[in-house]
Amino acid sequence: MVTTTAPAEGREHWSGRAAFILAAIGSAVGLGNLWRFPAEAGTNGGGAFVIFYILCIVLIGLPVLLSEILIGRHGQDAAPESVRRVARDSNASERWAVLADIGMVAAFLILSFYCVVGGWVLYYIGQFAGDLFASGPLSGAFAGSTPEAVQQLMPDLFANGGTQVAMLALFLGITVFFVMRGISKGIEFVATWMMPAFFMLFLAITVYGLFTGDLGQTIDFLFVFEPEKLTGSVMLAAVGQAFFSLSLGSAMMITYGAYADKSINLGSTSGIIAAADTSVALLAGFAIFPIVFAAGLAVNAGPALMFQSLPTAFMTMPAGTLIGLAFFIMVFFAALTSAVALLEAPTSWAITKFGVGRKKTAATVGVLAFLIGVLAALSFNSLADFQPLGFIPLFEGMGMFDTLDTLTGKIMLPIAALITAIFVGWIADRNLLDAENGISGWLHHSWRFLVAWLCPIVLVLILLVGIFPGLIGG
Ligand code: TRP
Repeated sequence: MVTTTAPAEGREHWSGRAAFILAAIGSAVGLGNLWRFPAEAGTNGGGAFVIFYILCIVLIGLPVLLSEILIGRHGQDAAPESVRRVARDSNASERWAVLADIGMVAAFLILSFYCVVGGWVLYYIGQFAGDLFASGPLSGAFAGSTPEAVQQLMPDLFANGGTQVAMLALFLGITVFFVMRGISKGIEFVATWMMPAFFMLFLAITVYGLFTGDLGQTIDFLFVFEPEKLTGSVMLAAVGQAFFSLSLGSAMMITYGAYADKSINLGSTSGIIAAADTSVALLAGFAIFPIVFAAGLAVNAGPALMFQSLPTAFMTMPAGTLIGLAFFIMVFFAALTSAVALLEAPTSWAITKFGVGRKKTAATVGVLAFLIGVLAALSFNSLADFQPLGFIPLFEGMGMFDTLDTLTGKIMLPIAALITAIFVGWIADRNLLDAENGISGWLHHSWRFLVAWLCPIVLVLILLVGIFPGLIGG
């Protein structure tokens, strides 16, 4: 149960370790695992990306995750304030709070394109529910659509800007509704009801995919490491995906860490969060690729993979429409828990900063995200030629949606994580943070080494080989 209690210092806290873990997993597991991970794995060549991704999670993601949660718990405040407090207590400059400022802006930008994808999910739920109903659920076929019709859903949706914007508004509206209700009634409700529902549906669909799809080809694709495929841009994509998926570099884990009380062992908690998140991403690969392979469809379809290839493949199977409906309902649950967390971070920050009420603040942030989201939604349609950063080679030819995705995933999150690693590895007072990290012996030394040395060096290298050839057009 995610319940919160008010401790002596007046800040809401998770009722215990389980509550904290569940909420953090709820924020981490989302479209990043189900939609973005398979899409990135598919377009970045499979095995090389996946194996490098797993390395990034263990060697970079996990140490940064522990660092962010530690900052939050010591700071006991909204993310930038927490960093400032750690800096102050370490006699360091409060400018380090820039890592949380970047994160906050990144979270807001992610929210605005995340809800566009959330809108697509709602649209698919509506379509499949309608088809199921029209085909007569009692006929026993549960297959109201043809593969051709389903293949056409995404182009149709993209061609219809009005529907897309309406779906975005609906998804964002639901998100704002829960954030307005506050931590215990909103976020707690979403995490305790939707995450278990998600996991049950997810297991059912994965098992279905394993039994009906092409498992052998999937294993080859996801786990055969071909070193020549590991280019700079694949490495940057993998590290960016690791941060995106673990909700790092976006002020999130600092924010949630602040709700954790001193008795929670942050070391093992971080391990559990990372393990759960990575398992869901890999299982999503096993839910999606076997079915796509069995139907002989393209794996490098990118953002369309989950929306076009997979549901088309469902339609070649018994009870396809029913499976499709269940699948998108599950995606909706996972997406909503993350979207609520994405909105909560800038909202709680703005509440303290401007002293405005929660409801008004959540609504205002929601409207701002909507305005940017509209530009992103229409970038598949009438605004395809609006390429705000198109003059930079890395962003060449990208409309608003891809620009936001690349700007956050490949630039802002890695940079915020880099600053976090340097801050915790070199600047913050060790006695302050190390005493609280809940790990000892070789684990502690490994964490220290990874945060202080490996993370900064590897991140700088990856940013250089990944971004700069893109920036200068090499
Ligand atoms: N991790 C989320 C997902 O996989 C996306 C995300 C990134 C996020 N940063 C975040 C969610 C911050 C909540 C808060 O879908």
